[in-house]
Amino acid sequence: MIFCSVLNPAIDVIYKIDEFRSGQTYTDIPHFSVPAGKGINVAKVVKTLGEDVCVVGLTPEYDFKRITDYLNLMQIGCHFFSIPGNSRVNTTVIEKNSGFISHISSKGLTLPMRIQIEFMQFFGQLTSKDDMWCFSGSIPQGFESDIYSQMLKICNDKCNTTLLDCRDDALKFGVRAKPVMIKPNLAELENYFDEQIQGVHHIALKGKRLIDAGIKYVFISLGADGLIALHENECLLCCAPQIKTVDTVGCGDALVGGLLVSKYRKFSFSEMCRMAVACGTSNAMHEGPGEITRNEVWQLMEDVQITAV
Ligand SMILES: Nc1ncnc2c1ncn2[C@@H]1O[C@H](COP(=O)(O)OP(=O)(O)OP(=O)(O)O)[C@@H](O)[C@H]1O
Ligand SMILES: [Mg+2]
Repeated sequence: MIFCSVLNPAIDVIYKIDEFRSGQTYTDIPHFSVPAGKGINVAKVVKTLGEDVCVVGLTPEYDFKRITDYLNLMQIGCHFFSIPGNSRVNTTVIEKNSGFISHISSKGLTLPMRIQIEFMQFFGQLTSKDDMWCFSGSIPQGFESDIYSQMLKICNDKCNTTLLDCRDDALKFGVRAKPVMIKPNLAELENYFDEQIQGVHHIALKGKRLIDAGIKYVFISLGADGLIALHENECLLCCAPQIKTVDTVGCGDALVGGLLVSKYRKFSFSEMCRMAVACGTSNAMHEGPGEITRNEVWQLMEDVQITAV
């Protein structure tokens, strides 16, 4: 089974309005609201590609039913540890006339350490041999920045395959716990090494350092330019197909979903890269994170150009 963590879920609310002016009241504006979190996006992609998936994390009690109903509808399993209160809300206002998009993201609840300890016990009981775990997304306030590292160590002890996709301190601590796969984008890689990284060979060298640090697969995503991927002595530059871009939010999550499914199905390293890039590109062709189609992915896989670096 493939598991995706969601430690800090939110409700995304999107308003579409002709024009937005501060100080005005707008009523009856069409809106769309949906449970959100990087792990949910990844799980949607895994499910669309045809594998069973389960989301594991924390959910504020007042939104528990809403989030679990949403996942059940997509036949995504879930194991949530309930915490008090409401989810944070991320509001997006899309102005149809100007095309401007504004975001307001609310601060999440600050959780006491007791909840982290109880959650870790809950999590430990869910891990078993031969599972694949994906750790992605932000960490709730009040939790330690090395929580992913702690979760990875529990998985490593049980011989699970693990993937880490996060930033800042969570990435720094996480790498020390040696996840099997990591997926930083270029900005996250620069932040990790605390320097500007330019050009394919410079990126590849940084990737090799991460391989040297004990990570088996390093995937550095480059937006529309695709991916640089490293495994053992191989380093591949994978160019994404050119498409008409609709919405790039969640492209990295889609790429991660493709990596999980292709690894789960024991694809070769280059075919893993091909499926992952195709998932990222399919996501860019649709509105909303984690929205891909299975046929499109298989079609796009034929157009991913892979060269050895
Ligand atoms: N404009 C685009 N055209 C084609 N493919 C794209 C485009 N943008 C992204 N992709 C695909 O999606 C993959 C992941 O994108 P990106 O590097 O932007 O991830 P990210 O920064 O982690 O995104 P996020 O964290 O928002 O999900 C790329 O490697 C590429 O395959
Ligand atoms: Mg990302």
